[in-house]
Amino acid sequence: MYILAIESSCDDTSAAVLRDGILLSNVTASQAVHEAYGGVVPELASRAHQQNIVPVVDQAIKRAGITKADLNAVAFTRGPGLMGSLLVGVSFAKGFARSLGIPMVDVNHLQGHVLAHFIRESEDDHDQPEFPYLCLLVSGGNSQIVKVNSYKDMEIIGQTIDDAAGEAIDKCSKVMGLGYPGGPIIDRLARQGNPDAYQFSKPNIPGYDYSFSGLKTSFLYNLRDWLKEDPDFIEHHKEDLAASLEKTIVDILMKKLRQAVKDTGIRQVAVAGGVSANNGLRNAFKYHAKRYGWKIFIPKFSYTTDNAAMIGITGYFKYLDKDFASIDLPAYARV
Ligand code: KG4
Repeated sequence: MYILAIESSCDDTSAAVLRDGILLSNVTASQAVHEAYGGVVPELASRAHQQNIVPVVDQAIKRAGITKADLNAVAFTRGPGLMGSLLVGVSFAKGFARSLGIPMVDVNHLQGHVLAHFIRESEDDHDQPEFPYLCLLVSGGNSQIVKVNSYKDMEIIGQTIDDAAGEAIDKCSKVMGLGYPGGPIIDRLARQGNPDAYQFSKPNIPGYDYSFSGLKTSFLYNLRDWLKEDPDFIEHHKEDLAASLEKTIVDILMKKLRQAVKDTGIRQVAVAGGVSANNGLRNAFKYHAKRYGWKIFIPKFSYTTDNAAMIGITGYFKYLDKDFASIDLPAYARV
């Protein structure tokens, strides 16, 4: 059974092909056009998706070693995301599936991130979580703790009440005059800095919810004071600033996750989303595995940021349930 998957929710155009749930190809075109603006420009993203979608799908099918006539279904990201971006992928998927006379499967982008741990690159690839597991989903738009009971049954037990973790990193990076997206830059600088050099405020909110707006403000105000004393403060201390910021964010994320593990008794813990590429967060997961006996699941780098492979595996599970989408199903920007 061959499934083609399409992801276009934000600024990555991605297509993947899976055979019986095994990944054959995963092709992604990223959009450099946004770098000059310090953030994703929705209209430019839609236009780039329109340019990229045909070549990306073509490459994915070719790399899988099949032709479009072999396909049995098309999975696509229906939302959440940028409406203009989603419409390109959704419309393409509908037209493509209709022209081939095969069913379509709509996928929730966030569910895709959470199920990225089930992507298998070969028959021998069996390192997957068992249900139930906890998943820390951290990206540019979300910071959630999800209790995953089955492929279809997921419960958000905690989430950010304001900014997402990735958004906070990107904004602090912007304040420092570093490039966009800030995540990989902060990650690189943090490796050479002292994580205990500076203290930034940590939220104090009940339950498993997160908040990152206070940290962002504290970073901004501190930086403003330090710059008054030394106009080159950022240049002189960017490594220490990055390391201290990263440590604060990782500490905030892990504290709530530890509490969730303690309260639920679930020791299988996964991390997903763009921020799961972060070295400090990955190390914190490894530390918790050793210290607290967690069985951890950390995705390959290529499955941390937006990709069609995760949409493909989620679509595959829905296909097995015969949970198909109708041609008039609209995209949705928010859940
Ligand atoms: O999941 P994703 O690709 O897009 C969505 O938000 O859906 O996540 C993008 C976020 C951005 O905020 C980016 O700065 C962050 O993930 N990110 C990282 C790293 N790589 C990407 N944050 C920290 N360290 C990284 N290495």
